[in-house]
Amino acid sequence: MTGFILGNGGHGRDLADIVKAAGAVPAMHDDDPERGEPVPADVSYLIGVAGPQTRAQLDRPGNTPYSVHHPSVIGHAACGFGAVIGAGTVIGPEVTIGNHSHVGAGCTLTRTTIGDHCQIAPGVDIAGDVTIGDRVFVGVGATIRNLVTIGDGAVVGAGSVVLHDVPAGATVVGIPAKVIKARRWVGEHGPEYMTLPSASAPHDYRGVVGTDRCLVCGGRLLDAPHVGRQA
Ligand SMILES: CC(C)(COP(=O)(O)OP(=O)(O)OC[C@H]1O[C@@H](n2cnc3c(N)ncnc32)[C@H](O)[C@@H]1OP(=O)(O)O)[C@@H](O)C(=O)NCCC(=O)NCCS
Repeated sequence: MTGFILGNGGHGRDLADIVKAAGAVPAMHDDDPERGEPVPADVSYLIGVAGPQTRAQLDRPGNTPYSVHHPSVIGHAACGFGAVIGAGTVIGPEVTIGNHSHVGAGCTLTRTTIGDHCQIAPGVDIAGDVTIGDRVFVGVGATIRNLVTIGDGAVVGAGSVVLHDVPAGATVVGIPAKVIKARRWVGEHGPEYMTLPSASAPHDYRGVVGTDRCLVCGGRLLDAPHVGRQA
């Protein structure tokens, strides 16, 4: 079984390790449209780029994504298309991971809703009843306390402890996390990140059947039989 990965930098290679651990053969593709060979039209793929904005831009119709999780993941999540869960992550009840959102190794998630194209770096703890918007980046080792909402396009700095809601597009750092940058507004189109083509014409997954499946077991990640098995 082959798992195509669009993007052959560091993040793509991390995904390749997960794909291999899951028992499939990774095939790397350059994500640069000038240099990269086109992904064959009939294959499903993962976007192997860490930046949420770039991932949203690469998420174009044409190929259908697959999802994959490391076999050492413990717990169950309802995952979208192209979702990835890294090694040793522990998932508690009521966790939803959106389309092309990647959760790194060693995270702990409980009662959390993660939107589309998010990057949750390794070692992040999300305490529960947390809502994370689209295209959010959460840095390594951050903690997000319960009952917090993180707006679209926000950035949470490495090691930060988020105790309060984070506005869309803001960067927060520290303990407790405070806003250091608010996203600049650009005219009538709203914040800069809202002008991305993906925001105005998102990939429409309705009617796409069977691609929210684990590459290896074919089950929805929600009920994949090898979730919880040790690597
Ligand atoms: C939050 C982050 C994106 C900010 O980057 P940036 O916009 O370039 O900001 P700067 O580096 O200019 O820092 C701005 C200020 O915030 C502080 N700061 C930056 N990141 C911080 C963090 N994580 N915790 C505490 N303070 C931080 C800086 O010290 C600086 O303070 P100063 O103005 O008093 O000197 C970046 O620092 C970060 O944490 N990235 C995450 C890295 C990561 O987890 N990668 C994943 C690997 S898998």
